[in-house]
Amino acid sequence: MMNRRQWITGSAAVAASVASLKASQGTGAKKPVVISSANGLAACAKANEMIRSGADTLDAVIAGVNIVELDPNDTSVGYGGLPNEDGVVELDASVMHGPTKRAGAVAAIQGIKTPSKIAKLVMEQTTHVMIVGDGALRFAEAHGYQKEDLLTEKSRTAWLVWKQSLHTPGGFNNWVSMQQNLEQETRNPPMKQLRSSFPQVSDEVLAWAWDMAVHPTYGTINCLGLNEKGEISGVTTTSGLAWKIPGRVGDSPIIGAGLYVDQEVGGAGSTGVGELNIRVVGAHTVVESMRRGMSPKEAVLEVLKRVSKLYNDDKKLLDQLDIEFYALRVDGEHAAGSLWGSHRSYKTYSVNDGGESRHEPCVFLYGKEG
Ligand code: GLY
Repeated sequence: MMNRRQWITGSAAVAASVASLKASQGTGAKKPVVISSANGLAACAKANEMIRSGADTLDAVIAGVNIVELDPNDTSVGYGGLPNEDGVVELDASVMHGPTKRAGAVAAIQGIKTPSKIAKLVMEQTTHVMIVGDGALRFAEAHGYQKEDLLTEKSRTAWLVWKQSLHTPGGFNNWVSMQQNLEQETRNPPMKQLRSSFPQVSDEVLAWAWDMAVHPTYGTINCLGLNEKGEISGVTTTSGLAWKIPGRVGDSPIIGAGLYVDQEVGGAGSTGVGELNIRVVGAHTVVESMRRGMSPKEAVLEVLKRVSKLYNDDKKLLDQLDIEFYALRVDGEHAAGSLWGSHRSYKTYSVNDGGESRHEPCVFLYGKEG
């Protein structure tokens, strides 16, 4: 246990780190910076353009991710997201506004294409931070939103292929532990069987649908935005784990896990396997590490080490898990990190600090050959 003297010394060190961060921020105007997961090139461009035009940072990042939420071809977020095991799309989202230190979230909401907007309504129009399930839908309807069918032909086909995959060895099943799924041998798509079941669907879509069936996606978008005054906000939005048990909530709507923003320090967010992130309260851990003086790069690596510890650093199991963290400090420095990568093949994240958005490499905890 920490004694009083150690506690005082630790508190003084944190205060010194925050003071030095504030000093490094200086008083001059900063360049607006927006970062997001790799699927957010357009989102970053939109958000940065809005920030430069004077929009609030939260309005800007929400408008950015709305592009992805409304995109039927992104099957991990909003409209067109892969559904739960009943074939129903359930969405999670959270927002945090640095300047006013407020947060809002919705979880397992059905029928609304842009859950990030509903999360902001929760933040602004209620005394709550999170509303879930049918209550979240009724809250959205009270604010004039209409329930819509969020399934597309592509996501419905993928769901049917997943149902077929369940009777084959290698199928992914949420009713057993993650460990059992990870230890399962997966196999190549049974194209002959799939073609006869879905004659109208192309081989390309069938191969993709099989991959989603046996390696369900946890894809998500996290977006963090900073303006020239140093104000910072963030949003995370997702359709969550494909084929989930209805009502399953991932990390994205959980303040501190999928998203955390502290106006004194910076913001962080995550994409990937939410169950891993919730157990290390990842976004909060990243921000607190930056508060203690770590760079964004060091902070994302630090939280990835904690994720690795969840599986006792067993690289064989970790090899099949996908998780990324994103960090933007209030002085504009940023980084993102993933569990795995190599110098030739690595994950990327999106950045816009003016002009065109670009992908930058994620740092990684464990290197791979190739
Ligand atoms: N990170 C998204 C999820 O696990 O739901």
